[in-house]
Amino acid sequence: MFNPVSSQAQSITNLFNLTMLIAAVILLLVTGLVLYVSFRYRARPGEGEPRQIFGHRNLEIAWTAAPAMLLAVLAGLTLHTMRLSDPSIPSQTQPDVVIVGHQWWWEVRYPKSGVVTANEIHLPVGQKLLAQIESADVIHSFWVPQLGRKMDAIPGHSNHLWLQTDQPGIYLGTCAEYCGTEHAWMRIRVIAQPPGDFEAWQQAQLQSPQIPSEGDAAKGAQIFQEKTCVVCHTNGIGPDLTHVGSRDTLAAGVLENTPTNMTKWLKNPQTVKPGSNMPNFNLSDAEIQALTAYLEASK
Ligand code: CUA
Repeated sequence: MFNPVSSQAQSITNLFNLTMLIAAVILLLVTGLVLYVSFRYRARPGEGEPRQIFGHRNLEIAWTAAPAMLLAVLAGLTLHTMRLSDPSIPSQTQPDVVIVGHQWWWEVRYPKSGVVTANEIHLPVGQKLLAQIESADVIHSFWVPQLGRKMDAIPGHSNHLWLQTDQPGIYLGTCAEYCGTEHAWMRIRVIAQPPGDFEAWQQAQLQSPQIPSEGDAAKGAQIFQEKTCVVCHTNGIGPDLTHVGSRDTLAAGVLENTPTNMTKWLKNPQTVKPGSNMPNFNLSDAEIQALTAYLEASK
């Protein structure tokens, strides 16, 4: 959050910095005064009782009014910052991207093009995308600190958020609301790219991946159907795997996407991500090898 890449995140960081600055000045002032008074007016041998003072109306008004005014200013600035990032949208507007929290991964859909992916969100730089945040099960929270505000994903209720950046890059995010065992492994990768690259990515996602017609990958494609992997992985129970080979990570960020790690995951998902809804199918080594070849070829 200290390195914002969107105007929304910048305004939040500015407010945070200002609040911290004010708090730091007050901390230094109070600590300094306490130290000064402790040393300057400490009891010395042979001194009697100091002068006793009971109440001082003007001082009391001052130290009540000053913090109240300070807090009022911060509240005003907070409201202003919230307004800047508010997606006031006409009710008929279709979102550019729908992001659905699941235990424990993110479904990502682009309703305008029909692209469906998971855990990675591609964004064209310089464009303001309306994101609709939903949940399939419990409350999650979508948060990519460099892009701006946090937004809860609530079952049965859609929230909205603007996603925008002018800087190409990869921005990491995570689920920010405790949602069960693997809450910590609900990572988000936002890949901001020039509009041309985004369009090319989108077109590639809409094509069927080129799977070799024989060999391990072809066998894997068959196993994928026979072992019913396809059921969960195309209807939103598990992440869509059509182009899984083109993603950077597996299991919502737990593992880098490599054939070795894919093998490890298929061998026993529960050792990689305990509690995950991906069962252990007790696949044979040959089946795992074929599935790995198929999934890694699915680019
Ligand atoms: Cu999803 Cu925490």
